[in-house]
Amino acid sequence: MTFFTLEFLRMVDRSSSSNPIPGHKRPATSRRLFSLFALAAIGIAVSAYLAVDGTADVDQQVFADVTVYKNPSCGCCGKWVEHLEHNGFQVEVVNQPDVIIHKRKLGVPQRLFSCHTAEVGGYVIEGHVPADDIKRLLVETPAYRGLAVPGMPQGSPGMETGRIDSYDVLAFGAGKPEKVFSHYPGEHTGSE
Ligand code: CU
Ligand code: CU
Repeated sequence: MTFFTLEFLRMVDRSSSSNPIPGHKRPATSRRLFSLFALAAIGIAVSAYLAVDGTADVDQQVFADVTVYKNPSCGCCGKWVEHLEHNGFQVEVVNQPDVIIHKRKLGVPQRLFSCHTAEVGGYVIEGHVPADDIKRLLVETPAYRGLAVPGMPQGSPGMETGRIDSYDVLAFGAGKPEKVFSHYPGEHTGSE
């Protein structure tokens, strides 16, 4: 729109100099006013763009802080932490040999146990839950205690073994039965 305004001003300029109409000469001050309007329009457009960009940064902050309780010698736990960091989370790692204490304290049912346990935005995350599911959890804020990927399915984030099994991300807690929050179908290699 701004571009069209400037182009229009140029056309007016060109036509008035090549084909002057006696008594209808456009005063220079009016043209200057028009240019000021065009500059103001550019300014508004730029600040609107920056405002949108700023909002995106604020959203990113919402996904920032995760605390992960893991055993110091757990390799796949470390890989899951890297997966979260690559997806814009700020991760604080608590290395502790007894992780089960935290699972019990945070109300993770034993049938859902995995290797690591994490806390983010008032929710509990058990196991190799993909970062996208955690982001969706923080946006939708469902009435559950948290999300779990029980066991350690191959192909889940941090469990890149070359094989990709199917698995579910379960929403659990708050006195309700577990619900499938998302399903990952896995990939068949053809050897089965
Ligand atoms: Cu693991
Ligand atoms: Cu782990």
